[in-house]
Order: sequence, then structure tokens, then C-alpha cells
Amino acid sequence: MRAKKYYNPKGENILDEKIFGGSPTGFVDFNRSRYRWDSNIYDLMNANTWFPSEVNTVNEKKNFELLTENEQAIYKLTFAQLSFNDSAQEEYLSDFRRLANNRLVKAVLSLQIMQEVNHSKSYAVLLDAAGNSGEVFDLYKYDAALNRKNQRIAEQFARYIEGGSAEKMLLSAMASVNLEGIYFLLGFAYIYVLGDKVPGARDMIKFIARDELNTHLPLFANIFKTIHKENKISTSTIDDIYGMIKEAVDIELEYGRYLLENYPIMGLTEDLIEKTVYNYANDRLEKIGLEPIFEQSSQTYLQKLVQKHLNMNDVRSNFFESNVSNYAKSSIDLDDF
Ligand SMILES: [Fe+2]
Ligand SMILES: [Fe+2]
Repeated sequence: MRAKKYYNPKGENILDEKIFGGSPTGFVDFNRSRYRWDSNIYDLMNANTWFPSEVNTVNEKKNFELLTENEQAIYKLTFAQLSFNDSAQEEYLSDFRRLANNRLVKAVLSLQIMQEVNHSKSYAVLLDAAGNSGEVFDLYKYDAALNRKNQRIAEQFARYIEGGSAEKMLLSAMASVNLEGIYFLLGFAYIYVLGDKVPGARDMIKFIARDELNTHLPLFANIFKTIHKENKISTSTIDDIYGMIKEAVDIELEYGRYLLENYPIMGLTEDLIEKTVYNYANDRLEKIGLEPIFEQSSQTYLQKLVQKHLNMNDVRSNFFESNVSNYAKSSIDLDDF
């Protein structure tokens, strides 16, 4: 490891530091940001700080035991999968961060890594309260469909993480767009369908969903669009991006259909989960500046549930009102382009 990585007085001007390629001086300067969205997302992430102990889980065991057998299975298989996503993302972000050049973007990724660890901690707190922590965290050993979803996500993550070119880094960022924007979504919706029956789980998911959808997804959408804008990206790479989101939709629906067929519960149908995942995938494509390709439906019941809980928990408006002075110099927009 060269000392230059830490301190490089001959490095490029801080405003010239791109996400891919280049040579940073080694300073994290929040007052000089090449991209406004990075420091805005950092501030919003901080404003959203929460701790698992804030969620009341005292009655979780009693509430869990009152669920029907199928509802219990949905609960366990959902948390078993979501907890994998956060564990994997912590590791993946650490690897992706190493590929990045811009120091402020790297600083925001450091905070995101901390938040993913907080999500892992929250699953442990919740499942401990529900009395099934060991069983749920070990389910991948016994449930082939769960194991397969985890495996497919891990493989998509690993494919381009060595980096080496702007195109590989763009593909690598896409894996995070898929994780933050697709692999969590049916899981969130299922817990909201159980809703008042398991308020501890519902409230924990409300906090986690706010982090994933209000800050982590916008962060990676911006990283994606920035790499795309600042580098020459071939059409075949964009084709590969479409291939990755099609695969993500398939991964999400495969597990969704498995749960539906084996553990049917009120309010969930195959048609509903398909429309939901297609709508989300189109939205994610629009967020990264690409054309939607999936059949679009009007907002589904599951999307409305996710949105409703997001709105209930949104601190953004209050946060920006009470911190106006912080934003005198920069836009509050999370999106520069
Ligand atoms: Fe997370
Ligand atoms: Fe995340």
C-alpha cells in the first residue's frame, strides 16, 4: 500500500475528483463537493439516525405466536432473506468503496456501511424478542428457495466487483440499485401486510425501509448516473445493465412465487406481486436515467402500503425546514442531473 493513497499533495483539485479514475489528495472536504447530492444525502442519512432499541418489541413473541402457521412462515422466511441482504451489502459496499476515487462519495458510503450494520443489529434485536433468532438466521440451511435467492444475489454482486474500468464499476453500482430498490421490496410489503398483528416487526421495517428507499437508493442512483455521465459507456454495457435488472426481477419474483404457493396468506396473489415488482423495476430504471421496459400498471396495493409507511416516517421535510442554514449554499435536491 502506497502512502500516496492517504496523502497526496500533488493530487487533483478536490472539485475534479470523479467517482471513477483519478488521483485524490486525500482530504474529505464537505464544503467543496464536486456533486451536491453526496453531502445532501449524507446529511439526510444522519438526520434519519435511529436505534433498534427505539422500537417496542416487548410483545413480539406473544404477537408472533398468534399468527397463523402460514403467516409465521412468511415472517420467518422474510426476515431470513432481508437479513442476508443487509449482511451482504455491508461487505459489498466495503469492496465498492475501495474502487471509488471521490473522497466525499467514499465518506457517504462509510456512513451507509454503518447503517447496514445497524439493520443487521435490528434483525437480531427483533428476532431475539420473537424468540426465533437462531432458527431464522439458520433457515438458509434448510430452505432451498431462500438459499437460491441469496446465492443469486451474491453471484450478481460478485460479478463486476474487481472493477478495472468505468463500465465494470457502473455494472457494480447496478448491483446495489437492484439490492436497495428491488430485493427488499416484497419482504417489506409482506411485513406491512401482517401489519398490526406484529407491530414490532412493522415498526422495525419502517425504519429500515426509510434508509433503503430514501437515502441508499438515491445514493446509488446518483453514483450510477454520475459514472454514466462522466465516462464513455458502450451500448453493450447498457444492454448488460438491462440484463441485470431483468435478472433482479426474476430473482425477486421467484422467491415471491415460492412463498405464495407454499404459504398463502390473505391479500397476496401472483398477479399482484408481478405488477408490484415490474412497477418497481420501471421506477428504478427511470431513477438511473434509463427507459423503463416492463409492463407498467397503476400503483398496486403493496406499493401503496410501502409508500404509506414511508410517508409516516419521513423526516425529510421537517429536517430541511429546521436546518435551512446548512443549505444556504447548496440545493436540497438529492439529484444533480
Ligand atoms: Fe440495509
Ligand atoms: Fe441499504
